[in-house]
Amino acid sequence: MKQLNFHLFFLLLVGCLSVIKADSAYKKYGPTLKALTSCQRQLSNTAVFCTTGKTRGNKCICTNPNALATAAGCLSYGHRNTTAIFKALFASCEAYNVTLTVDDMVEAYQNYTKYAIHASDIPNFNAKSPVHVPIRLNDTNIRLYMEAYDKYLGNYDNSLYYSVGVIGYWALVFLVAIIVNWSQVLFPGFFKILTGPISNKFRKHITMPAAFGKKKTTEHKVLKIFHFLMPSRFETIVIIGFLAVVIAVCSAQISYVEGDPVFDSKSSALLRYTADRTGIVATIIMPLLILFAGRNNFLQWLTKWNFATFITYHKWVARVDFTLVVVHAICFSASYGDYYTEVMKRKYMKWGYCCNCSRRNNYEVFLTIHIIFAALWIAGTWIHVQDLGYVWFVYPSAALWVLDRAVRIFRLICFGFPEAQITLLFNETLKVVVPKPKYWNSVPGGHAFIHFIRPTCFWQSHPFTFTNSVQEGDQIVLYCKVKGGITHGLNKYIASHPGRTARVRVGVEGPYGEPTNAKIYDTAVFIAGGNGIPGLYSEAVDMALRSKENNKQVIKLIWIIRENKSLLWFYEELLALSQTKIQCTVYVTKPKGDINNVEYNEVIKLSSRISQSENDSTEEVDKKEKSKYVHEKTEVEFEPSDSEANSNIGAIKSEFSHIEFREGRPTIEDIVDSEVKESNGSIAFVTCGHPMMVDEVRYSVIEQVDKSDGKRIEYFEQLQVWA
Ligand SMILES: Cc1cc2nc3c(=O)[nH]c(=O)nc-3n(C[C@H](O)[C@H](O)[C@H](O)COP(=O)(O)OP(=O)(O)OC[C@H]3O[C@@H](n4cnc5c(N)ncnc54)[C@H](O)[C@@H]3O)c2cc1C
Ligand SMILES: NC(=O)c1ccc[n+]([C@@H]2O[C@H](COP(=O)([O-])OP(=O)(O)OC[C@H]3O[C@@H](n4cnc5c(N)ncnc54)[C@H](OP(=O)(O)O)[C@@H]3O)[C@@H](O)[C@H]2O)c1
Ligand SMILES: *[C@@H]1O[C@H](CO)[C@@H](O)[C@H](O)[C@H]1NC(C)=O
Ligand SMILES: *[C@@H]1O[C@H](CO)[C@@H](O)[C@H](O)[C@H]1NC(C)=O
Ligand SMILES: *[C@@H]1O[C@H](CO)[C@@H](O)[C@H](O)[C@H]1NC(C)=O
Ligand SMILES: *[C@@H]1O[C@H](CO)[C@@H](O)[C@H](O)[C@H]1NC(C)=O
Ligand SMILES: *[C@@H]1O[C@H](CO)[C@@H](O)[C@H](O)[C@H]1NC(C)=O
Ligand SMILES: *[C@@H]1O[C@H](CO)[C@@H](O)[C@H](O)[C@H]1NC(C)=O
Ligand SMILES: *[C@@H]1O[C@H](CO)[C@@H](O)[C@H](O)[C@H]1NC(C)=O
Ligand SMILES: *[C@@H]1O[C@H](CO)[C@@H](O)[C@H](O)[C@H]1NC(C)=O
Repeated sequence: MKQLNFHLFFLLLVGCLSVIKADSAYKKYGPTLKALTSCQRQLSNTAVFCTTGKTRGNKCICTNPNALATAAGCLSYGHRNTTAIFKALFASCEAYNVTLTVDDMVEAYQNYTKYAIHASDIPNFNAKSPVHVPIRLNDTNIRLYMEAYDKYLGNYDNSLYYSVGVIGYWALVFLVAIIVNWSQVLFPGFFKILTGPISNKFRKHITMPAAFGKKKTTEHKVLKIFHFLMPSRFETIVIIGFLAVVIAVCSAQISYVEGDPVFDSKSSALLRYTADRTGIVATIIMPLLILFAGRNNFLQWLTKWNFATFITYHKWVARVDFTLVVVHAICFSASYGDYYTEVMKRKYMKWGYCCNCSRRNNYEVFLTIHIIFAALWIAGTWIHVQDLGYVWFVYPSAALWVLDRAVRIFRLICFGFPEAQITLLFNETLKVVVPKPKYWNSVPGGHAFIHFIRPTCFWQSHPFTFTNSVQEGDQIVLYCKVKGGITHGLNKYIASHPGRTARVRVGVEGPYGEPTNAKIYDTAVFIAGGNGIPGLYSEAVDMALRSKENNKQVIKLIWIIRENKSLLWFYEELLALSQTKIQCTVYVTKPKGDINNVEYNEVIKLSSRISQSENDSTEEVDKKEKSKYVHEKTEVEFEPSDSEANSNIGAIKSEFSHIEFREGRPTIEDIVDSEVKESNGSIAFVTCGHPMMVDEVRYSVIEQVDKSDGKRIEYFEQLQVWA
């Protein structure tokens, strides 16, 4: 619900901003303006009527009776002489302080019928020297002008409708997603019934897998320099649909009128139409581009798609938008032929070019460059279309961006900037304990973006999953794996402090994300790898609390870690599991070497609970009971023997009698296989951890989807990779 509040806030702001600047410079041509423009242009191309002032141009029609009569004749063709068109003409004449009435038009038409003569009947007719009679226009020519302007100006109008079509495509996609994803939440029973061969086939082949191959969260490398992430098959279908719609929209109704008087040649006409179409489509889909990239995108809440999915779409909308702008620029320049350089000098062409480059290797550098270019892109578009009447469509883009930033700052301020205690554990994980305000509700499985307020990195914000502190209320805890960027810097900083602990002021922007829908399944298996544990842990615990009465629901937590010592940084949380019905299994893939005394003591120091739980004798009995149940199914049983009891790991593991320990790297396929076989009713797998492991889990679950008879098997991914 907290999420909903933020989203509503965001929507409200969007609404306000779009109303503020509603004085549109955009003009829709429509049949009247198209007809009027075609007659105005035909007149000035046919003859000169005015002797003084600017001889060509629309002013002459307002002031010269012969020109007005000719115009009235032109407009009467095909009964276009409606009140609407007269009004448009009168309005244009008002600009020259000339007031005309309908009576004038009736009289002008009579003058046309009475006095007009064909240009060819005028001796020594010269299109450059003024005539003193109305000119009778050739019907074929009127039609030609009419059709040509229908194409040329009509294209502006059509382009708008077609662009709305592109937006409509996305709206449709989102609508389907909203219906499907919310009905799973609102009518869980219905979906379990729906499980059949068809739905299984659909999920197995469309919604669950990566487009090609096994890797989805693991990046693909091409020629060692190009990195990319494979979208899911469903995302691919959405993207292909989008590309198809854009291609259709950019080529529909673009054709040439033979003998077109507006353009010199067929190619320049077609190029211009294409340029206008692509330019307008590019401008109007721009808000999507910005919206998808925002952290506070209300569509995330509506569709229940995560940020990473929207970033995938963002990338494709960006690619398409960029391509459209390039096509626009090229076609526009080409349609002008020799005038190219002349036109290039015009303000809006100068701004028409912007480029975008990206690198994955250094995310922060990429992000900074990306933001600068995005700002230039929006500003460039703004200035480029300002005089063209399309600036109205740039406001939403700018507004969305400003708003996303505003909500982000709002969230940061809501949280305050507390001092966090950061502890470096075993050179591999930073434990960040942040006191949180009471009104800030943490979301199970949610994450927040953290700013560490230090001179070298305060502007960076990194996403980390949080758990509620098990030791003290009103604290959240993040466990950050030490990598190469900000975490590396912090690692060095903290390591230089006595006790490997320091207090650092932090900004917390969140909560984002939400728990998966695993809670409606009869069995939920959470598979975490390494530092992927916090989110899954908090989700599992939350689920266990909710299903206290539901004895049938089985919750399992599987954690795969590399070394015994990794246990220690999640020590408190693992201990707390004994109070829940969660069945926890820990795999240690490289159980070499004992935890040394320094490390052990470090954890003991941090832990206040060890002695407490030892004192609690009833709890102890409880744990033994549980451990018996767990151990019945254990292959490698762990009971601390006398010799091991002295060792640290032995001491620690004896604390965890409610947890089953196994050694060696598990085969994900076997885990999934056996869990499916063992489960009663529906089963959901939730995973987060190393991308390779996550891909393995997805693949294994997909393998199982249609094998089990009538069991609903679902897969949820809490790992998000977008950089
Ligand atoms: C929703 C979510 C929750 C996460 N939760 C946790 C967690 O609980 N514990 C944990 O250890 N890690 C978590 N991560 C991963 C964590 O965000 C990255 O490991 C961290 O940002 C790396 O920082 P760095 O500068 O040290 O990384 P670098 O060594 O510079 O980069 C390592 C990789 O991290 C990714 N990355 C870097 N900066 C960002 C950024 N600002 N936003 C997104 N990705 C980035 C890039 O893919 C990059 O290749 C989570 C990521 C996401 C998306
Ligand atoms: N929401 C999110 O997006 C989110 C949340 C939290 C964390 N994260 C990120 O998730 C990652 C967590 O991974 P980590 O780096 O901490 O993990 P890790 O240390 O690389 O791996 C953890 C364990 O998983 C095992 N493993 C890896 N692939 C496996 C496979 N295919 N089958 C079986 N076991 C496998 C490893 O075994 P071996 O030793 O044999 O390799 C290791 O024991 C981090 O990068 C973290 O930043 C993301
Ligand atoms: C019609 O023609 C007459 C004579 O040329 C002219 O005086 C009159 O102004 C014209 N009417 C209009 C409305 O142009
Ligand atoms: C409109 O044009 C028709 C001929 O197409 C003509 O009969 C009619 O009088 C015109 N009406 C006006 C108001 O000019
Ligand atoms: C129209 O009249 C107004 C005031 O009467 C004057 O300010 C303006 O310059 C005039 N416009 C033209 C185009 O003559
Ligand atoms: C009208 O013009 C076209 C070409 O400009 C010509 O072929 C046609 O004969 C003309 N028609 C009349 C009625 O003058
Ligand atoms: C962490 O690494 C540093 C230097 O790499 C080393 O001196 C220290 O002993 C390590 N500490 C632990 C607990 O592994
Ligand atoms: C890890 O624990 C296992 C027992 O579960 C033990 O055999 C192994 O020696 C331990 N390794 C370390 C590093 O303590
Ligand atoms: C455990 O019990 C002992 C004696 O009953 C007591 O002195 C000690 O403070 C207790 N420890 C905790 C953490 O409650
Ligand atoms: C599944 O249900 C059967 C019968 O209701 C029961 O015997 C079995 O223990 C259950 N299995 C699990 C894993 O709960």
